[in-house]
Amino acid sequence: MKLLAIETSCDDTSIAVVKNNNNQFLVEECIAYSQIQDHQQYGGVVPEIASRLHAEKITALLDQIGEDTIKSCDAIAVTTHPWLPWSLLVGKTTANFLWSLYNKPIIEVNHIHGHIFSILLERSIQDFPFPRIILTASGWHNDIYLVQNTSNAATLQHWNVSTWNFWPLTLTKLWSTLDDAAGECFDKVARMLWWPYPGGARIGEKASQGKPRDDIQFKRIRLAKDEHNFSFSGMKSQVHYLLKKREEKQKITKDLATWNLQPWTLSDQDICDIAYAFQEAMVEILAKKVIKAAIKYQAKTIGIVGWVSANHRLWEYANEYKDSKYPEALLTKPTKNLYSTDNAAMIAAAALIEKI
Ligand code: KG4
Ligand code: ZN
Repeated sequence: MKLLAIETSCDDTSIAVVKNNNNQFLVEECIAYSQIQDHQQYGGVVPEIASRLHAEKITALLDQIGEDTIKSCDAIAVTTHPWLPWSLLVGKTTANFLWSLYNKPIIEVNHIHGHIFSILLERSIQDFPFPRIILTASGWHNDIYLVQNTSNAATLQHWNVSTWNFWPLTLTKLWSTLDDAAGECFDKVARMLWWPYPGGARIGEKASQGKPRDDIQFKRIRLAKDEHNFSFSGMKSQVHYLLKKREEKQKITKDLATWNLQPWTLSDQDICDIAYAFQEAMVEILAKKVIKAAIKYQAKTIGIVGWVSANHRLWEYANEYKDSKYPEALLTKPTKNLYSTDNAAMIAAAALIEKI
């Protein structure tokens, strides 16, 4: 089966063509227009601008794919939920239009399920044994899912309102963030450091030049109740108060027009050290929770997906922690950064899984 996939749930307009070739998910095309530059001046995604840009850019992307390729696809996979309603509507309307032109069936896909199956792109679906534990870490979702193959499993371990049935697979949302997503927290801290949206990658770069210091430490907040869930709002508050303390010591002039101008006189090394301490705290929370979930559910595969999975330190820390606590599991992430961020290829992967 070959699918044309459409993703427009947030600030990436993306089209992909993905083929299931003997259970290998081959990505023939995956193109995207990233709206980051368009939203940067507002410090985050503006829904109205996002939907207008999707409508503006999607036809050029379809032109790039070409009519012959579109006609050669068996069906159209499209993200229909969740996230920005007017942006999603552009994708769904485009799918409806292609359906009426070429008479291709439409497969509606949940965006988060796309991230969950993004580990399968350009790989064989047999590469990852069940059960799987997947951490979805991005700018607006931050959850841990259990993926089971119920045709093999003697009993279904977990069934509740957050379970989706993709027979023979089931996806169960186990834990999620109670406030910010990890990427959102990275972005907010980057903003405190006067870096443009989205600042996660910049924090990663600066952190790599930072070092541990006794006077810059952030607590790993533990939830008294629901200890497996995530809570990141306290992380950003800790950074805020650390900066505020420094700020109070100085009289400052803020120049909002220049992102790179720091209003306080922190040295470059201070900033790298703050980024380092913050990133260490974030990756420790993310990595430990996903590995603990894997141990609890005896997962054979652990996946880290969403654009935060592009963070090198998260990957390094998760590997070290897994090797020390649970070496028998396989730890994986998408083969390319493109498949970690919002993209249409992962939407095709989820649709193909649904149809296998
Ligand atoms: O998955 P994604 O593209 O979009 C959403 O669905 O939100 O994730 C975007 C998020 C942003 O918050 C961005 O700052 C974060 O991923 N991000 C990172 C890194 N690269 C991107 N966070 C930490 N470290 C990185 N290297
Ligand atoms: Zn996403």
